[in-house]
Amino acid sequence: MICPMTHPTLAATITLAALISTGCRPTSPSPVASPANSWRVACSPQLTDTRHVDDLPVEVAQFETVFWDEADTRSLRELLRQTGCRGESVLEIGVGTGLLSLCCLQAGAGAVIGTDINPNALCNAAYNAERILGLPMSQPSTRWSARSPGADVAPRLQLRWVSRDDPEAFAVIEPSEKFDLIVSNPPWEDGKPQQWADYAFYDEDFRLLDSLLAGLPSRLNRGGRCLLAYGCVTAVRTALERAPRYGLRAEIRDDRDLNSLPEIFTPGMLIEVRLTGSRE
Ligand SMILES: C[S@@+](CC[C@H](N)C(=O)[O-])C[C@H]1O[C@@H](n2cnc3c(N)ncnc32)[C@H](O)[C@@H]1O
Repeated sequence: MICPMTHPTLAATITLAALISTGCRPTSPSPVASPANSWRVACSPQLTDTRHVDDLPVEVAQFETVFWDEADTRSLRELLRQTGCRGESVLEIGVGTGLLSLCCLQAGAGAVIGTDINPNALCNAAYNAERILGLPMSQPSTRWSARSPGADVAPRLQLRWVSRDDPEAFAVIEPSEKFDLIVSNPPWEDGKPQQWADYAFYDEDFRLLDSLLAGLPSRLNRGGRCLLAYGCVTAVRTALERAPRYGLRAEIRDDRDLNSLPEIFTPGMLIEVRLTGSRE
């Protein structure tokens, strides 16, 4: 593992690392982690790996404890490339390395808000946004914003930290904020997370999924859509089963038969969720 603070080449390219001047941190959550604490306190900017993905001009970096499996969201990224999301307002729940948010920006999104419960993920996404899209990020607090260089316009990317005390899908979204597109590759297993890295995998009682579905009717703009990527049979079934409770129509956008897949599989399956009655 490489700590960007001590790696000479990376240190030259990382301006964000300067913000995280407390160095490499433990991988477990502190007893109290709330948005009142700044990310700087909780961040662990250890670079684990870098990889080429799709046609992104620079390799995507992965920090310690931050999830990586680009295959999970391959079909979602493909759809974004095909349909684009020009000018759309986008929310990504569980931003991880920032891969999906950056793809949305690359596909023309007007503005993206990315949230995560793991502060390392927010540092990671900010780092990738700066390196890959050249979006300089403002000083971190509980919210980090990025503007296109030289542009005096609304931020193109905002990153927000979700508290473990209030981990609902829209906990850090203002009631007035609505979106044309909501994307997520949520944790897919019903279990209790203990360490930061666990939050990528475990969604106890599928509460995050449930709060996401419950919030969609009031958070999606008219005609808006939600795209979920899941590589787990139980999670896909749960999403399909719960969506109608909230007046939503969830459809699998994948040729594979769910019944013939193993419980955990890659690439992840794309599920499109819309309000019942809304047109494609
Ligand atoms: C499977 S990973 C996906 C990461 C990234 N979107 C990707 O596709 O590579 C799920 C992400 O959701 C985050 N997460 C888990 N619970 C969350 C919550 N309640 N609110 C926001 N993010 C959460 C995790 O920390 C993790 O980064």
